[in-house]
Amino acid sequence: MYSSSELLKMVNDTIDSLPYDRKPAALYDPIRYVLSLGGKRLRPVLMLMAYNMYKEDVESILMPAIAIETYHNFTLLHDDLMDRAEVRRGKACVHKKWNDNAAILSGDNMLVLAYHRMIQCDEKYMPAVLRLFTETALEIDEGQQYDIDFENRSDVTEAEYIEMIRLKTSVLLACALKIGAILGGASAQDADALYEFGEKLGLAFQLQDDYLDVYGDFKTFGKQIGGDIMCNKKTYMLINAQLLANKNQAQELDMWLNKENPSREEKVAAVTRLYDEIGVPQLVREKINHYYQEAAQAISRLSLPQERTAILWDYAQSMLNRKS
Ligand code: IPE
Ligand code: IPE
Ligand code: MG
Ligand code: MG
Ligand code: MG
Repeated sequence: MYSSSELLKMVNDTIDSLPYDRKPAALYDPIRYVLSLGGKRLRPVLMLMAYNMYKEDVESILMPAIAIETYHNFTLLHDDLMDRAEVRRGKACVHKKWNDNAAILSGDNMLVLAYHRMIQCDEKYMPAVLRLFTETALEIDEGQQYDIDFENRSDVTEAEYIEMIRLKTSVLLACALKIGAILGGASAQDADALYEFGEKLGLAFQLQDDYLDVYGDFKTFGKQIGGDIMCNKKTYMLINAQLLANKNQAQELDMWLNKENPSREEKVAAVTRLYDEIGVPQLVREKINHYYQEAAQAISRLSLPQERTAILWDYAQSMLNRKS
């Protein structure tokens, strides 16, 4: 079996060696740019890891692995436009370095490129892979729409938030793992357990992303801190802050949520202070741990011996300690 760093190297080497022999440059330059900025490459690594639990020749599924990373990066181009973000992976977002049209059209092209790469999988499994990938892509759009709709709602519940992040984030991690399992010839039960592992891991992952958006360090996180606060994103933190605030805190929070053209510095500092006072960071940690326990249970249902599944759990643990 390969280690996670060996798998990551295979993914990076494959992405670096992709030919860009199509024109026009204005369409393909942003694609090459965003894919050259790295990122954690979690989804392709998870796909290869799942496959490698059943089969050794991981190099045979590098194209579907690159497909899922291409798809993920497509969602980021559009997400940054929708979230009014300016920096990703420590560099200017495509819509800032080029313009909105570049993010839209190069993003669209990456979605098609993702399919182009995904169909380069074993033909025997292609219908199952494409059915799952397509259903996943529909769900991600649904999650992204909820995320945007929630910006303008003040009554979003915790359950609605969890379902929204399951759709926008979890299903892609789950899909990556399940495609790895399908291509590796795993049983349906194992493929489903890996999907569920991805779902729970994804929930914890997005909770942590939301936490880092407030408490992270710009240098390592690579995204501007406070973006979610500025968009009034209905995160687990904001929902619980509103639920647990005393009268004064609730009034102040409400004032910031409704203030027109607030100063970024002031609003982010004030909302962060309210989160601290209300004790929100501790709640997030507990919720993340809860989903990690559920993720562990899904792993324990796999038909494989523990020494073959340990790599998954180790990798999940390393994601838990992430700062980027
Ligand atoms: C960012 O995903 C979008 C979310 C689902 C939070 P990652 O945190 O995996 O981004 P990169 O690819 O490592 O930059
Ligand atoms: C991203 O959620 C989900 C998708 C891109 C589908 P976020 O909006 O929190 O991701 P970041 O923080 O911009 O990476
Ligand atoms: Mg978003
Ligand atoms: Mg975003
Ligand atoms: Mg985020």
